[in-house]
Amino acid sequence: MPVDLLLRNGLVYTQGKIVPRSVAINTGLIEGIYETGLEPDARKVLDCSQSYILPGMIDAHVHLRDLNQSEKEDYASGTMAAAAGGVTTVIDMPNTDPPVLDKATLEWKIERAQANRFVNVGFFTGIPKDTADITSGIIQNVLGIKVYPHAPLSEGVHYNGVRIRECLKTAKKHEIPLLVHPDISDSTIKPESIEEFFSIHGCVSEVRALEQFIFAQNEIGGRLHICHVSCAATAKMIEEHRAEESLTGEVCPHHLFLTRNSFSVENGVPKVLPPLRSSYDCRILMDALKRCTIDIVVSDHAPHTSDEKNQSFLDAASGIPGLETTVPIMLTEVFQGRVSWVEFLRACCSGPATIFGLRTKGVLAKGYDADIIVVSREENIIRGSKFYSKAKITPFEGRRVVAKIRTTIVGGKIVFDEGRFLVGRGIVGRVPLRKT
Ligand code: NCD
Ligand code: ZN
Repeated sequence: MPVDLLLRNGLVYTQGKIVPRSVAINTGLIEGIYETGLEPDARKVLDCSQSYILPGMIDAHVHLRDLNQSEKEDYASGTMAAAAGGVTTVIDMPNTDPPVLDKATLEWKIERAQANRFVNVGFFTGIPKDTADITSGIIQNVLGIKVYPHAPLSEGVHYNGVRIRECLKTAKKHEIPLLVHPDISDSTIKPESIEEFFSIHGCVSEVRALEQFIFAQNEIGGRLHICHVSCAATAKMIEEHRAEESLTGEVCPHHLFLTRNSFSVENGVPKVLPPLRSSYDCRILMDALKRCTIDIVVSDHAPHTSDEKNQSFLDAASGIPGLETTVPIMLTEVFQGRVSWVEFLRACCSGPATIFGLRTKGVLAKGYDADIIVVSREENIIRGSKFYSKAKITPFEGRRVVAKIRTTIVGGKIVFDEGRFLVGRGIVGRVPLRKT
């Protein structure tokens, strides 16, 4: 019996080196990896000569908005951006309008994502004021619980020691990680100057948040995942407190490659939380990623409208799109020799699969889900105007990359090929993702 699809004669990373191989796909799974000439017959063949065949990225920090904020992004535009950017699985954040604090809102998101998806979509939940209101009906459809100490999703909540312990206990009880936006600043203080913004959301606040959560974790146990680590001091703290998988962390390309000083002070485009830091922080974060102190790379794709971004720094919305820039930027590091293949594959594919319990994803090997990208090593300039995301303003505008996503395959089906979408919405991928 012929297999469904053969990706013929691409470049595959296996046993420590890049070699020519073909990848066979059948019933949505990777059937096997073959030397050229030894492949099984296939109903469809895609010539991948000179291109790299890689697992698609699992992006564990994405804001797809939708619901009452569809003007910023919706599940169709956001997951098209993912597919075009080489991301085959996204995990959607709960700070939507309305926020995910109850089963009905989560079900609304699941329904919207199922109908409009172009890739796999998993979810995180927020945590209601009364942590006991997190029911198994919510838990069975999420991959983690996310908290925002500087901007709580539930009204009347303050992230003191008691609350932090309750959140950790809840996550531990349900055997899922507690994700933390590491910022413990007082959300009621509105900065009156740019300096004040950077001081409120400074590294002191990031370190303090981490201290409080790690202190509580030492007592309660459970798993803690630190979102978008942006400071050298926080990376060092994670290193000191790491104990196998109970403390994990993520970093974004904008915190690895951009600094506050490379933009004019008044420019709202690079405004993001946590803010851009110094070149010293960038260097230490990259070092931490390479040494596995920080486990994974995420985009923190946080779309806003052009009107919201085309503002002076203080008035601009925080957040930048990242689904269409993360894989090309990280692969450019690989192609130019600054990041190894192992580091890339761990940070963008197998690492997030391990942390969030997606055991059938993130690896290009027999039996895994056929979530695959085909990438060519060719020059490309990042242009926000070409994004599928509704958010077209990026601080990476004009950056030269040397990686181009040619084809994206989700669950064995070709979704995106040479700049075109081959399937309609709501056909490929799984929603919601559950721990496997
Ligand atoms: C995010 C958003 O816009 O939802 N903004 C951001 O600057 N990163 C929120 C977040 O990730 O904390
Ligand atoms: Zn975010």
